[in-house]
Amino acid sequence: MPAIPRTPIALAVGLVSLCAAFGPQAFQSASSSPFQPAVPRIWDDQAMSMLELPLANPIGSARHAPANYYYKIPVRAIYKSYPIYEPGHEPRGYMEWLKTRQPLIIWDATHHPPLQTREDWIRAGEMVFDSSTFFYNLDATLDQVRSPDWYQTVGVPVTANGVMPFERYVIRKKGAIEVSGNSCATCHTRVMPDGSVVKGAQGNFPLDRNVAYRYRAGVARCAQQRAVSVRRALGAARSACRSRHSHGATDCLAA
Ligand code: HEC
Repeated sequence: MPAIPRTPIALAVGLVSLCAAFGPQAFQSASSSPFQPAVPRIWDDQAMSMLELPLANPIGSARHAPANYYYKIPVRAIYKSYPIYEPGHEPRGYMEWLKTRQPLIIWDATHHPPLQTREDWIRAGEMVFDSSTFFYNLDATLDQVRSPDWYQTVGVPVTANGVMPFERYVIRKKGAIEVSGNSCATCHTRVMPDGSVVKGAQGNFPLDRNVAYRYRAGVARCAQQRAVSVRRALGAARSACRSRHSHGATDCLAA
């Protein structure tokens, strides 16, 4: 079997299993506590074998990981996260305050939020929906999400109170503020024309324009770095030349 990246599968399918827990059957009983949702077993070898229509030439068919592999994948931790505000709406001192936050795991193999009532489960599902799987400022950098140019050029919608709801700040190490995303929220949050938010809809974060913006910023950065390294190389060559010249060498002219 080909090598399979571990955590993305665990997360994606783990989350979907949670979402499945909120399907219509899960809520047949009225709000009463304690609530016992029907969480189906998500990775089922037989169901996986029927995921796709058989291809005309099966040589190209996907081979899915078996359930006994899936259930060995470690659970990904969910860290506490914080909203990203567009410039002009960020509370005063927010960045400094974030830098003082300790990393806090809100869900992993040993921690979890309260799971007693139906409302607890809905809140917990929302927590998973919002939890990031990309860190390291992959989708956008801290400078970008705090610059008006990014919002204007990419056309990123924000909520009525100035929150950019598709990504979150996550603190996994004290002092390091990461713009994080690729959560269900990144692709399934819709900001409506009146600035309200529909979670679980067809999202309207302009992923395509954001990728283009990132590439263009990368190209500009490369050109800048190239110019700097050319200048450095020239400078080094000149000073080597000057030093040899001052020691009597005549094969190069000190510029
Ligand atoms: C990178 C973007 C992206 C992320 C992240 C993402 N989705 Fe989706 N999702 C899509 C797209 C695009 C479709 C539509 C696919 C299609 O129609 O072929 C979709 C379809 C779906 C559907 C099917 C909707 C239908 O009408 O049948 C569900 C359910 C869903 N996503 C749930 C989730 C959940 C839960 C998560 C988080 C674990 C998630 N998605 C994360 C992009 C994403």
